[in-house]
Amino acid sequence: MTAPATRAAARTRAAAAPRVPVGVRAASGSPTAAGLQSPLPGLRLADDRPDLPVLAVPTGPGDDGAVLLGSLPIELDVATLLLRERARGEAGELVSVPVTGADPLERVLLVGTGDRSPSAWRKVGAALARRAAKSAGLAVDLRGSTPDGPGLRALAEGLLLASYGFSTKPVDARPLQEVVLVVVDPASLAAQLDAALVTCAATAVARDLVNTPALDKSPDWLAKRAVRLLKGLEVTVRDEARLRAEGWGGVVAVGQGSSRPPRVVEVTYDGGGSTHVVLVGKGITFDTGGISIKPNPGMLLMKNDMGGAAAVLATVRAVADLGLPVTVTAIAAIAENMPSGAAQRPSDVITQHGGTTVEVLNTDAEGRLVLADAIAYADTVLRADVIVDVATLTGAMPVALGTRIAGFFTDSEALATQLEAAATVSGEQLWRMPLTEDYRQALDSTTADLRNIGRPQLKLAGGSITAALFLQHFAGGRPWAHLDIAGPAWSGSDDVELTKGGTGFGVRVLVAWLEALAAQPARRRATARR
Ligand code: BES
Ligand code: MN
Ligand code: ZN
Repeated sequence: MTAPATRAAARTRAAAAPRVPVGVRAASGSPTAAGLQSPLPGLRLADDRPDLPVLAVPTGPGDDGAVLLGSLPIELDVATLLLRERARGEAGELVSVPVTGADPLERVLLVGTGDRSPSAWRKVGAALARRAAKSAGLAVDLRGSTPDGPGLRALAEGLLLASYGFSTKPVDARPLQEVVLVVVDPASLAAQLDAALVTCAATAVARDLVNTPALDKSPDWLAKRAVRLLKGLEVTVRDEARLRAEGWGGVVAVGQGSSRPPRVVEVTYDGGGSTHVVLVGKGITFDTGGISIKPNPGMLLMKNDMGGAAAVLATVRAVADLGLPVTVTAIAAIAENMPSGAAQRPSDVITQHGGTTVEVLNTDAEGRLVLADAIAYADTVLRADVIVDVATLTGAMPVALGTRIAGFFTDSEALATQLEAAATVSGEQLWRMPLTEDYRQALDSTTADLRNIGRPQLKLAGGSITAALFLQHFAGGRPWAHLDIAGPAWSGSDDVELTKGGTGFGVRVLVAWLEALAAQPARRRATARR
């Protein structure tokens, strides 16, 4: 924990939102974005229309898009154009009109806004960012149909996140440098824009970490990146010797097959919250399966097996940048799961942090082993008030929910309600899964306290549930939730605000959850308990 002085400073910062005057802060200028492979476009609010090559105007029933366009020195019959193009006004639907005679304006984008919900505005933002990606600047004139705060935030997030790109080769400066949102009263929306800038910069960092090939992404590399990302906060990196000495038996066992030893990163941001939230992330930098090796097709995406760690680390960055009055620790349990002469064997018995013994029957069920140590540490050493772990844990999860929805498990009704609310506002979807007691017997072992995979003879299947039940054992009865992000951590294609590759899933929903916790009166926050 930091000194009271720091705590007070964080509280002061939190009270003075927005911290940066309108228009000064751009995504590319935020501290988090500094390490970005490819910076996000600058995004600001203004109350009059700047001269830029692309102008987007919402045009739908009940807004004044046509009126706004009437002030341009060009002839534009909006109604006829929309009719001719059979525009239906769906969110993100574009009619692109090349124009002359209004230099530097080259193109007007008439954009549909659907039902003007936050998810509709997110689609508007993403569609505009993709259509204007090769232009130097985009102005979005919202004076005829101004979104509310959450709508503005979703629009900004769509614009920023859909602009994300990753390349392992050096890239030239991005074409789209400047995006301006024109509104009647910029000051009233400044805090929402600020939150979007911070959250998207953090999400982009998480995406970069996931997209980095595992050749470069050793556990040590990831730990060093975390230190760089979390500059200014209290960060501890445990190396293999220390992990062994402190009894992190799961992390050590999973990491022992690799020539690149494991690490655990712990970081705390203390904004003076009345409850201590501990976020735990699975950080397998590459999952070959170990001696229980995966077939090649199942191995190809396994550089993304540290998506949970990336998400919790980036969340702490975002929460600190926003100065939220919460106290959050993130623990990233980082190892490379490789087969070798030093690797753990199926049938080994290991001792997790806190003393629970585990019979390792399948070395490909490695995520739960590294998470168990961190969750036990959060329980017995940190004495967390609430624990949330985030992990690309089971291949069964995307079979159940597909690739856009994460399954979540919790034994706390209060936490379930909070996470569902956060999912709704953030646009990252969660679906609650059951912690069925009847399945617990699948984890009974004759030689240890637990097996690391369900007993196949029982034919219960439900691999995501038995994995969650395994983790629950280590939370010591504290309010706990597990987010299985095996599906949504990765996107196979560009889709709305997602760019093909790592998605940074978890950052937006966790930030939204922590913002809601910060807004709750202290007395009610404690009721996250069972
Ligand atoms: N990292 C994988 C889970 C995964 C699969 C994530 C596909 C993303 C996409 C995890 O470590 C794993 O291998 N799980 C096994 C568990 C099994 C051996 C009990 C699985 O799901 O097959
Ligand atoms: Mn595995
Ligand atoms: Zn894994």
